[in-house]
Amino acid sequence: MTNDPIPNLTAFDEAALASAFGELERQARVAAASLDGIKAVEAFRLEWLGRKQGRLNEVSGRWLKAAPATAKKALGLRFNALKAVVESLLDEASGSEPSDAALQAEAIDISLPGSRRLAGAEHPITRTLNEIVSVFAALGYSVGVGPEVETDYYNFESMNFPPGHPARDTQDTLVVANQERRPLRDRLLLRTHTSPVQMRTMEQQPPPVRIVIPGKVHRNDAADATHSPIFHQVEGLCVDTNITFSDLKGTLDHAMKALFGSAVKTRFFPSFFPFTEPSADVQISCIFCDGKGTRDGAPCRNCKASGWIELLGCGMVDPNVYGFVDYDATKVSGFAFGMGVERIAILKYGVDDIQLFFNGDVRFLEQFG
Ligand code: DAH
Repeated sequence: MTNDPIPNLTAFDEAALASAFGELERQARVAAASLDGIKAVEAFRLEWLGRKQGRLNEVSGRWLKAAPATAKKALGLRFNALKAVVESLLDEASGSEPSDAALQAEAIDISLPGSRRLAGAEHPITRTLNEIVSVFAALGYSVGVGPEVETDYYNFESMNFPPGHPARDTQDTLVVANQERRPLRDRLLLRTHTSPVQMRTMEQQPPPVRIVIPGKVHRNDAADATHSPIFHQVEGLCVDTNITFSDLKGTLDHAMKALFGSAVKTRFFPSFFPFTEPSADVQISCIFCDGKGTRDGAPCRNCKASGWIELLGCGMVDPNVYGFVDYDATKVSGFAFGMGVERIAILKYGVDDIQLFFNGDVRFLEQFG
């Protein structure tokens, strides 16, 4: 490759610059047009862009230095334009391989940490609810749901709480306003328990029934560490021929062991619910002190030193309840149970304030991820 040496520039007006740079561009194009092979391309690169002896380096050294201050800007612009031409000639000559600069602009730094997608976590209540449901699903139970806005009939009357029955007072009911003109049984309220779905299920299907019903319920309770006006229950109903209290005990004992570990014991205490007879409260042996009532030599606070924790209500379905549907109480029998999901989650995860489930604080929730 033979190029004229870079001449000295003596004039710096526009015309002189145009002609000087035009000549260099012409030479570069001629040289580039006959490049053939990697070696020639590399020689062209060194000749024009070489850091020390490259022609452009020489131009910037000599011409720019010699230029009067007023011409430096114009000269700089032309210099940059020429350099861009030389670079693109080089790109073309090297088979359109992009320049280092272009590569760098596109390059991915594989040593940078990747951007992590925040994965959501199942809410502890949802998780506990699903866990309870799957324990019963494994026993052959189906799963049902019902409405949260319920009628007085389903929430109370058909569950054997007749109008004016004192057991209604235990339920702290939130009622929908302006219902007074309707008959009592049609008045709307926020369901206080999932038990009304027992009735809705039996209306829909003949016996046998084995169903669990998870869902949200409402009570007019002020929020504090142990109360929430909104909480969740899982209801259970089993109706068939020859279902006995022993079946109820065996089923719930199994479920408690599945939820809290096989060392847990259960005991059944007489209780009252309008829709079951007899009724019972189920207690489990305290999972914090293993039922001993003391922990590290001090009385166990979780079970108030009794060794037992009360967990759910249950009983044999009251024959009056079958009277609201086409079930023949002389032929079938069954049991029902209802458990609070928050209460179970609190015990399982050692949570000390029920409000944590509802405040949406990610520092709490992400621990369940
Ligand atoms: N519905 C009751 C409540 O919310 C819980 C309950 C107790 C449900 C006994 C049942 C049951 O099905 O048999 O307080």
